[in-house]
Formats: sequence, C-alpha cells, structure tokens
Amino acid sequence: MHEKSIGHLNAALADELAAIHQYMYFHFHLADLGYGPLANLLKRTAIQEMLHAERLAERILFLGGEVEMVVGREVAKIHEPTAMLERAKQLEQESIEMYNRFAIACGAHADSASKQLFEDLVVAEEVHWDSFDRQADFLARFGEPYLALQSFGGSGGGAAGGGEGPAAP
Ligand SMILES: [Fe+2]
Ligand SMILES: [Fe+2]
Repeated sequence: MHEKSIGHLNAALADELAAIHQYMYFHFHLADLGYGPLANLLKRTAIQEMLHAERLAERILFLGGEVEMVVGREVAKIHEPTAMLERAKQLEQESIEMYNRFAIACGAHADSASKQLFEDLVVAEEVHWDSFDRQADFLARFGEPYLALQSFGGSGGGAAGGGEGPAAP
C-alpha cells in the first residue's frame, strides 16, 4: 500500500541526506576560517536535517518500504560565506517546494500521516531558510567584519577583517 508515498518519502530522504552533506561541508570550512557562530548554525541545521531523515525513514518502514539512502546531489565545493548562504537558501527553497508538492500528493491518495509529516517538514525548512536569510542579510549589511567580530567570543581572534567594522547585533 501507499507505493506513491514511499517514492515521495525516499525522494525527500535523498534531499535531506544531500542537505546534511552540504551543511557539514560548509560547517567544516566556516570553522576553519574562524567563523565559529555561523559554523555552528550550519552544524545545528545539519543535525536537524538528520532528524528529518530519521522521521522519513521511520515512515517508509511503517509503510513497508525500503529505505533507499540515496544522496540526492553532490556537495557544491563553495568556500565563500556569502555564496554558501545563497546556496543553503536555495536548497531550503527547493525542499519547501518539493515537500509542499508531496504533501498535496499524499493527501490526494488518502495518506494523511505522510501528508502531515511533509507539512511538518515544510515548517521546519522555512525556519532554516529564514535563519540563513538573516545571516545573509547581516553579511550584506556589515560585510566580512561582521563574521570576524562574531568570532571574538570564541577562540578565533585575529581574522582578516580588521577592527573597523560595526558591532554585530
Ligand atoms: Fe530537512
Ligand atoms: Fe532544512
């Protein structure tokens, strides 16, 4: 039963696994650059995507399907914070659109629980999109010194932004 739902759930799982890989990649590079708080945001988001993957896998098993564990796309080798945030927002936007479509499809073939799961994930991905958008906005307004100043709370002082930037909020 619910073969179509199992297909949608596995497609969503592939999307979540791709997001986990991409966000961990960004996390490693941001931490290496000394941008601790932004690195942590990417790490926390990757962990939340892992919990999404778990919920999708549990639903697939409940419906009697196979958990395919295909990674939906390759990691984009982006090293520049503004481009990272742009890519992360794009990934979230694509997830939001896909999960909205899947929620409608699952509702149309009377699988309300899968529909509810996709709706829950849409809400979570919109929160992710917003958190990345906020950081992109701060970066656009305050520039690289914003990221450097953010790092003062951690161990990564002495970043190449100089001391002239405005205070981060
Ligand atoms: Fe997710
Ligand atoms: Fe997300």
